[in-house]
Amino acid sequence: MHTAPAFQPAVAGPSGTPAARRRRVIDAPTRMFHWLFALSFVGASLTAAGERWRALPGTLGSALAGLFALRVLYGLVGPRQARLVPMVRRLRAAPAWLRSFAQALRDCSVQGVNWRQGQNLLMAFAVVALFAMVVPLTLSGYGTYDDWGDFLGGDWLEDVHEFFAEVFLVIVLGHVAMIALLSVSRRRNQALPMLSGHIDGSGPDIVKRNHAWLAVLLLIAVIVFVGWQWQQSPNGLIPAKGSTQSWSDRRHHHDD
Ligand code: HEM
Repeated sequence: MHTAPAFQPAVAGPSGTPAARRRRVIDAPTRMFHWLFALSFVGASLTAAGERWRALPGTLGSALAGLFALRVLYGLVGPRQARLVPMVRRLRAAPAWLRSFAQALRDCSVQGVNWRQGQNLLMAFAVVALFAMVVPLTLSGYGTYDDWGDFLGGDWLEDVHEFFAEVFLVIVLGHVAMIALLSVSRRRNQALPMLSGHIDGSGPDIVKRNHAWLAVLLLIAVIVFVGWQWQQSPNGLIPAKGSTQSWSDRRHHHDD
């Protein structure tokens, strides 16, 4: 997890003015993954309403699933700081933290509770929960898109998909709210590392190599995928203005 390590004051420059030192904590592929992942989810959520728009959320949902698969692969074979196991292992501290918190409640005192650790655990939990939710969300989404539910009749699979989409949205809103609250309480923009990859302060870079080429490759892969889907889809991914033909009409027409 990339939560900023303890702050260390910057060393003074030759003219005595403190040199702005910064450390790289998140590499380019992880940051590119993050914003493509966030955009795919937000785009799919905003266009999911209404039968005529099924092509675009379908494509963005597939992009979300593809990005997740690549992130898991990167988390298994990628650089140490991008590994997923430490991210999950970090949650092992949660039961002990919850016990200390429960004890503090019983003692009616907030002393002795490591709030910073609690915040980091909540951030890590939100991220792990998002990763865990991608599978049921995209699988039920693809099943709805491909009418898997028909054999049992009714839109039960669409209901399942909407349930997971709402759970995912709640976790995302919690994730963004936590980052906003932490930025205020720690008086430091916690979103910045996911944009620039750096945090201010001296000390060794946690990320030795940025792998910008891999981030560019990931971006190109997503653009090519969406472009291919657009080309494959009967009338593109965005229904023509005033066209009343629903997605399944267009799709079944396309299959004829
Ligand atoms: C303005 C919106 C957002 C901001 C500022 C933001 C910021 C961040 C930051 C700073 C981290 C690193 C957390 C840490 O190191 O503890 C992070 C991680 C993450 N965020 Fe967001 N986020 C945003 C929206 C989203 C959305 C919409 C999603 C999902 C659809 C998302 C999914 C994730 C995931 C999966 C990670 C883990 C990244 C990894 O390690 O690969 N975020 N985000």
